[in-house]
Amino acid sequence: MKRPSEIAPPSGKLGVLLPGMGAVATTTIAGVMLARRGLAEPVGSLTQNATIRLGKRTENRTPLIRDFVPLAGLDQLAFGGWDIFPDDAYQAAKHAKVLEDRHLAPIEDELAAVAPMKGVFYPEYVKRLNGTHMKTGASKAAMVEQLQDDIRGFMKRAGCERAVAVWCGSTESYSPAGAVHDSVASFEKGLAASDPGISNSQMYAWACLKEGVPFANGAPNLTVDFAAAQELAKQRGVAIAGKDFKTGQTLMKTIVAPGLKARMLGIEGWFSTNILGNRDGEVLEDPGSFKSKEVSKLGVLDYVLQPQMYPKLYGNLFHMVRINYYPPRGDAKEGWDNIDLFGWLGYPMQIKIDFLCRDSILAAPIVLDLALLLDLAQRSRMHGIQEWLSFYFKSPMVAPTLYPEHDLFIQLMKLKNTLRWLRGEEPITHIGNEYYD
Ligand SMILES: NC(=O)c1ccc[n+]([C@@H]2O[C@H](COP(=O)([O-])OP(=O)(O)OC[C@H]3O[C@@H](n4cnc5c(N)ncnc54)[C@H](O)[C@@H]3O)[C@@H](O)[C@H]2O)c1
Repeated sequence: MKRPSEIAPPSGKLGVLLPGMGAVATTTIAGVMLARRGLAEPVGSLTQNATIRLGKRTENRTPLIRDFVPLAGLDQLAFGGWDIFPDDAYQAAKHAKVLEDRHLAPIEDELAAVAPMKGVFYPEYVKRLNGTHMKTGASKAAMVEQLQDDIRGFMKRAGCERAVAVWCGSTESYSPAGAVHDSVASFEKGLAASDPGISNSQMYAWACLKEGVPFANGAPNLTVDFAAAQELAKQRGVAIAGKDFKTGQTLMKTIVAPGLKARMLGIEGWFSTNILGNRDGEVLEDPGSFKSKEVSKLGVLDYVLQPQMYPKLYGNLFHMVRINYYPPRGDAKEGWDNIDLFGWLGYPMQIKIDFLCRDSILAAPIVLDLALLLDLAQRSRMHGIQEWLSFYFKSPMVAPTLYPEHDLFIQLMKLKNTLRWLRGEEPITHIGNEYYD
């Protein structure tokens, strides 16, 4: 891909469309509203907090990322979305019980003004939900058309110049791509015939791509991770990214595993278990939805540790992931990891990690960053899979010939080097020989 010669300015309003306005979406929206009033800090967001070093260490050039690349400001964001329940963002945030009243009360009216549009919902893809706020349509193609109308209507009402979408809907049942996902033509035919292979989230993604709206997928379902969506994204010049926000336990895994591997310490077993009690946890009780999550979570260690290259260290690794729905915990998840590792001469050791995290608190800054960075990609005329955003995902989408990069630190370097490249700055290799000439 050639470096874009110019980046269109982030003028006017940017619509941020969130299909699925539950815990993650409302925590994101509320956080942005609080941050722009100066009532709370957007901790965890690179676009709001991180700096980027430019040039040599002796140059002392380290601007904030948001001063280095032209990003939409928080004041320019207008939120919209869809849900299969009619609760507005205030009611949904109350229901999700992530944020306390001291954070919700000052923005109650502003949050309440964000009401979801009716969702597209065929229940076979998410078994544990019984929605009450849904579209009706003769076919899946008709549903996509209604979603396209929604996008146009929202942008007009909110006065948006551009929009981006981030899937924050429930995890769908595991379902690999089939023939219907092969090409734009087969997918369009499948929509007209309401092919059962086409899931709810894929209809949202299709509508967004057709409207030129960049799309990121926060859940493990395929959504935009299939050939037809990638072909359409290319045809329409739209940026896409996915999948499955990298928060809690997988975030920890991709921090710890690269460190152990860097020191060539062996790993025999990695047992991960979670308890969580939010609606996401309830949906994941369904074996189909859990399977989607499990596939997404299990891939990580294989790619980080490369057992085929290091069979003596990682060839017999036993990796197990469990998620248990435990209502008393709500969104405050607990993730345990037991790592059985070995060192010099094979002597065994153990590491125990107990991460008392908060799912939506970790996911919200990811949603914000993805919205702003996808918009940047779109204004820079970058289209198709944005692999440089792998940093944010458990199962990064990559070109068909590549394997994904899971190491958080390589992902961060790739993200920052892509920003440097976009602005014509030298990538940073960290060799640094020149300081010793
Ligand atoms: N929070 C995290 O740390 C994290 C990490 C990785 C992935 N995720 C994923 O993000 C997604 C959102 O998580 P959450 O905790 O906000 O869940 P949630 O259950 O609180 O919210 C999901 C919302 O999506 C809605 N929904 C389901 N199907 C829909 C459809 N077809 N159209 C419109 N709305 C629909 C539900 O009604 C619900 O309000 C889940 O898929 C979850 O697996 C979350």
